[in-house]
Amino acid sequence: MVQFLALSAILAATGVIAAPNMNCLLRRQTGQFVPKPGYFPATGDDTIAGGIFCISLGDLGTYLAKSGNNAAGTGAESPRGSAAAGVGSGPYPAQAFTDSALAKHVVFAPKSPPPAGVTMPVLTWGNGGCATDPTTHQNLLIEIASHGYVIAADGVPGGKTGASQSMVSDMKASLDWIMKGGAAKYGAVNTSAIATMGHSCGGLEAMSTAYRDDRVKRILMFNIAIFQDEKRYLLQEIKVPVAWFVGGPKDMGYPNAEKDYKLLPAGLPAYKASLDTGHGGTFGAANGGKQGKAAVAYLQWQFRNDEASKAKLLDPKAAGSLVSDKWTVEYKNWT
Ligand SMILES: *[C@@H]1O[C@H](CO)[C@@H](O)[C@H](O)[C@H]1NC(C)=O
Repeated sequence: MVQFLALSAILAATGVIAAPNMNCLLRRQTGQFVPKPGYFPATGDDTIAGGIFCISLGDLGTYLAKSGNNAAGTGAESPRGSAAAGVGSGPYPAQAFTDSALAKHVVFAPKSPPPAGVTMPVLTWGNGGCATDPTTHQNLLIEIASHGYVIAADGVPGGKTGASQSMVSDMKASLDWIMKGGAAKYGAVNTSAIATMGHSCGGLEAMSTAYRDDRVKRILMFNIAIFQDEKRYLLQEIKVPVAWFVGGPKDMGYPNAEKDYKLLPAGLPAYKASLDTGHGGTFGAANGGKQGKAAVAYLQWQFRNDEASKAKLLDPKAAGSLVSDKWTVEYKNWT
């Protein structure tokens, strides 16, 4: 409790408590996953928000005190101010939809179905702090959707879902909805092209959801990686490529992404890029800023085999490369 109060004071002083990007501030509950080398639970569900890869509030306080990570640090690339939501820069102007078939979520998709022949991958999204309102991240999500994607995001405007945080079960509900044909309401979709993704606690929720769930083909982690060293052995059960987009040394996701990147199963493709934003990323910028551009390029490469997008990710000299946008990039097992 002392640690919690000390952490609260620090976070309040730095403004993080009020910020929507607050990390996994979780209730400690009984029945929580307890890591033990060699122990692999059947699913990534947990009694704490964000699932087995995430951290409880008590543990986060201890972790931050020990590591010196600062949840509120910002960098030279942090956006100044915030931009109003647009319709995205892609070919299919996009928007947020409420969908009665998927309660407690918002669907981001093109306003009108793309023309025949365009098949849309389907994505799930978890918010920073596992918050139950995706509005903070809508610029990024609308931007991705405008390139021909359907995204099922945790939460509703105002956060009135009856829970203070999202759980793995919420993201699993999105996967079930996709597989039952729910996303097809927004156009032709490809249920073999599913990624889970999220920011901070929501990113760990994305990884926990993908754990031992073969519906998920890619995992995208924004400004986050596993906090606790004793949980990293779980990475051995990650079977699909992982991409980390982190915010430089001030981001609590940065040192952990360095570790997790090295601990994936041998041969598994992985991508890791860092931009000096701090933990808050560029979500509030127009079209999700440089993170929006990077996410779209990664998805277009992975799910549509788009060569120009691949070059932006892998070739520093390519037009519009991530390196030219000041990302530091590392990748493996891709050619
Ligand atoms: C669906 O996605 C899978 C996996 O990314 C891909 O191999 C396949 O070509 C896609 N199908 C269509 C119609 O886009």
